[in-house]
Amino acid sequence: MTAIRYEHIKTCKQTGARLGKVHTPHGSFDTPCIYAGWNAGNRKNDEPEELKEMGANIILSNTYHLWLRPGEEIVKEAGGLHPFMNWDGAILTDSGGYQVFSLSDLRKIEEEGVHFRNHLNGEKLFLSPEKAIYIQNALGSDIMMALDECPPFPAEHDYMKKSVERTSRWAERCLNAHRQTDTQGLFGIIQGGGEYEDLRRLSAQDLTSMDFPGYAIGGLSVGESKDIMNRVLEFTTPLLPANKPRYLMGVGSPDSLIDGAIRGIDMFDCVLPTRIARNGTCMTSEGRLVVRNAKFARDFSPIDPNCDCHTCKNYSRAYIRHLVKANETFGFRLTTYHNLYFLLNLMKQVREAIMQDRLGDFKEVFFEQYGFNKP
Ligand code: GUN
Ligand code: ZN
Repeated sequence: MTAIRYEHIKTCKQTGARLGKVHTPHGSFDTPCIYAGWNAGNRKNDEPEELKEMGANIILSNTYHLWLRPGEEIVKEAGGLHPFMNWDGAILTDSGGYQVFSLSDLRKIEEEGVHFRNHLNGEKLFLSPEKAIYIQNALGSDIMMALDECPPFPAEHDYMKKSVERTSRWAERCLNAHRQTDTQGLFGIIQGGGEYEDLRRLSAQDLTSMDFPGYAIGGLSVGESKDIMNRVLEFTTPLLPANKPRYLMGVGSPDSLIDGAIRGIDMFDCVLPTRIARNGTCMTSEGRLVVRNAKFARDFSPIDPNCDCHTCKNYSRAYIRHLVKANETFGFRLTTYHNLYFLLNLMKQVREAIMQDRLGDFKEVFFEQYGFNKP
């Protein structure tokens, strides 16, 4: 038995977007969906109860962070991430590769794996495909990710080709190392950058021949334009099996969520809603709102008059501005809550629009109101 199963519900006649459900050992979630990043011991301003209340059924955690602190053995001793974090919904863990590339110093990639220094204390560490699987097996996440290399943009064709080929070999090693296939599903990651269609095709071909229960598209949102991202998705998603979920990694701005869904993506994660919330920026139905601005000092209306989240039902722009300016944690909790709710609610509207074959119309209205159509 495979741990992860995709149930297709329908395809939007207007756009080709997919409506479905992903079943995991810790419940199912409706797709297209977005999930919040959340690391045990690294919780920002939200709580599991709040995420549940907002309707979140899946969260993202990171192998890299949990390996370094508190260490996977402690999590395993607690019975795995679910009891350790008090989260009984689905958990997806990234493999650590991407975090090594974005956070640590002195990385050196070899065939065997990657050498780097712990960004917390400078200690020398080594991460291999087998180690990434060993740690994720100890964490007990429902969806695990294969170890990959996410090259910078732009990169030389020659380098990208070698990198894609190594990512394929690492994916194979991950599959061979993974023993808990009935309780944890391992996803492969397609790489190949933004500029080389042949390398995306090569990566998709290699990985789909290995029969993972789901596929991710990585190496995007690394500095390329939206047009490039959309083009890569357009030719990559048709190469993936229709009966398995597709996850676009690290992409979560409202326009990209809609454009990704239209190109056949089912799952998204992003740190954007929480990151911008921490400097007092909110997403609203009428575009971004920087609540710190002086013009909100006497504005007693909610962040988004069209939002029915806990923050918008109970607190004003003026009060939240005051909290944020005073650096009060509570202010950031309120903005974080609103942003997560906003994106979860956006995806709910996207699913409803797919159900009614009108995602194209929905996109047009949403983009206009949000201000994406402005030059
Ligand atoms: N998160 C965002 N992009 C990537 C990627 O390319 N690989 C992995 N492993 N995680 C990501
Ligand atoms: Zn709100």
